This record gives sequence, structure tokens and C-alpha cells, in this order.
Amino acid sequence: MKMSELTLDRDGLAAAIACEDAAFEAALREEAYRVKVATVGPEVYLRGLIEISNICAKNCLYCGIRRDIRCQRYELSEEEVLATARVAASRRFGSVVIQGGERGDAAFVRKITRLLKEIKSIDTGEDPPLGVTLSLGEQPREVYEEWFDAGAHRYLLRIESSNPDLYYKIHPNDSRHSYDRRLQALYDLKEIGYQAGTGAMIGMPFQTAEDMADDLLFYKKFDAPMIGMGPYNPHPETPLTLTGAAYPSAERRFALGLKMIALLRLLMPDINIAAATALEVLDPRGREKGLLSGANVIMPNITPEEQMVKYNLYDRKTLNASDVKDLSGKGIVIGYGRWGDSKHFRKE
Ligand code: 5AD
Ligand code: SF4
Repeated sequence: MKMSELTLDRDGLAAAIACEDAAFEAALREEAYRVKVATVGPEVYLRGLIEISNICAKNCLYCGIRRDIRCQRYELSEEEVLATARVAASRRFGSVVIQGGERGDAAFVRKITRLLKEIKSIDTGEDPPLGVTLSLGEQPREVYEEWFDAGAHRYLLRIESSNPDLYYKIHPNDSRHSYDRRLQALYDLKEIGYQAGTGAMIGMPFQTAEDMADDLLFYKKFDAPMIGMGPYNPHPETPLTLTGAAYPSAERRFALGLKMIALLRLLMPDINIAAATALEVLDPRGREKGLLSGANVIMPNITPEEQMVKYNLYDRKTLNASDVKDLSGKGIVIGYGRWGDSKHFRKE
């Protein structure tokens, strides 16, 4: 396939996703990088990632911290979260993401509310207060509202797959894992006023090129101001891995991860696109390659080391923590001290 043959409809996207020609893939990444710089500029925005807890009420079939896996569970104390957020401020990251397993207990909900207020009052010197993104799964609308009122302004909730059939192949088929409920949560977030980000995994068992094309078209239809998607990385003890179902090689999943970023940049030129952690796990220069393929956000992991090693969604042994200095040069400008809201959202 040639770049001149690329169209951004379902058939064109699926053909581009299925095409494994290295020259085509490289040309696509270059074009997406050019479009990124021309549209949102050369800056990369930083989100300090704080993994607050690996306790989760859900049982997603691909996830290494699912409820039924036996692993050491942890929860950061309020003081630990605050200390980590202060590190983000002192390193001028501009914003943080609080991510964790899905929990609905009142004590946890209140803790997040208190933390939001405290984080917003951290002194950042000359910069605006830290921006806060939450990624804590599906919650009742009132909880989303409470957290929004306490200062959260972005929320990440991946759809995981926009195809309901595939969704139910990678999740238990019960009321706790309802596709419709998830979709509703995304629309609730948007209505409340959050910048609601979503995304899906790339290169999963049972996933076709058409499914991935549909994921991209779903982002467009949902009009997402930000997207975080990344390659599927099998975890040895999860049901999805244990079924023995085939999935693309690590090399293909990495190439697909970059290609999906590039296609999305062409489809939605002015949104924020994250180079996900899962890319970094597959290639030590994964996030840099993501940025050079059209991404403009990275999430350096600032979770204290002792707990970070327990947040094993998948094998992350190769993860290189939070240094960002190696990204300067290569035309990438680091957006220190900025919230980095997407241009797309500001336009609305
Ligand atoms: N491979 C890649 N991503 C995964 N996630 C969970 N398990 C895996 C895995 N095995 C992702 C999900 C979830 C996010 C927190 O981590 O997409 O939304
Ligand atoms: Fe829980 Fe998220 Fe893992 Fe699902 S993917 S089991 S919701 S941490």
C-alpha cells in the first residue's frame, strides 16, 4: 500500500492497519508527525502517573491485577499520594494522573475527594496549580460529579474495545462488566464537563483490523479530546492468556501501536494522544517513537518504586521510570509546567 492510496474511512483504515509493509508504515508515521507539529505543535505534555492502588473489584480477563489473581495488594496513603504529587510539582510536570483499580467503597471515594482538594492547593511556584486527571474506572454519576467539583478536570476511561462482541470476549459476561454501562459512564463524564479520554488495547486475541479501524472511528464519533491506547501485553496468569488464543508478535504489536497513533493523528489532528506505557515495555525507546509517530503526551510513572512493582497489569520489568530529559532534542519540546489541555477541547 502507498500513502497516496490511504483513505480515512473504515475500509481504508482497516487496509492500512492490515498492511505490514515497512516502507508504508514509516511513511505513515512521518506524515502523522508532520501533521502533529503543524496542528498542535512540537510540545510534549507531561502527566505524572500515580498508581494509587492495585485493589480492584473487576475481573477483566486480560489484567494482571484482576480480582481473582492472587498478588500482593497495596494502597498508597493520603500522605504518600501528596508527597508524590509534590514531586510532580517540583519537577514541573504540570499535571498528574491518579490511576487505580476500580473501587466503589465510600472511604475510597471520600479519600479521592480530599486528595483532589489538597493537590489543587500544592504550591507550584510560578506555574498554575497541578492539573489532575483521574482514571479510577466506572463510578456512579454522583461520584464523578463529586470529584469534578473537588477539582478533577480530566478523566480517562478506556472503552478497551468498541466492538461489544470482542468486549465480551475479554471481559466476564456479567453485570459488573457491561459494555452499555461503560459507554454510559463515558457519556456521563462528558456531560458533567470533564475532558473525557478513552482508548483501547491494540493487538489482542480475537481482534481484527476492522475492529481496530472501528476503535478509531469510535474515538471520532465520541469526539474525544484525548486518547490513550496501547499494545496488548499478555500477562501469563490471566484467563485471556491461558485460553491459548493467538495474538500478534511483540514486534507486530509495537508496530501496530505506533500505526494506530499515526492514523488517529490524521483522523483527529488537534487532540491529545498519549504514548502509552505499554509501548515502552515493548521497546526501550517506545515513548520517543510514539511521539515521532504523532503522540504528544507521555505519562512518566512517579509511583514510589516499592508499590510500582506491584502494579502489574502485565509484565513491566523493563520499564524505565520517570526520566524525561532523554526526550529533548529530536525536535521534541518538553511542555514543563503546563496542563496541556487539548486544543480540540478548548475549541469546543
Ligand atoms: N495489556 C495491555 N494493557 C492492559 N491493561 C490492562 N491489562 C493490560 C494488558 N494485559 C490496560 C487496560 C486498562 C489500563 C489501566 O491498562 O486498557 O484500561
Ligand atoms: Fe481492574 Fe482495570 Fe484491571 Fe479491569 S483493567 S481488572 S478494571 S485494574
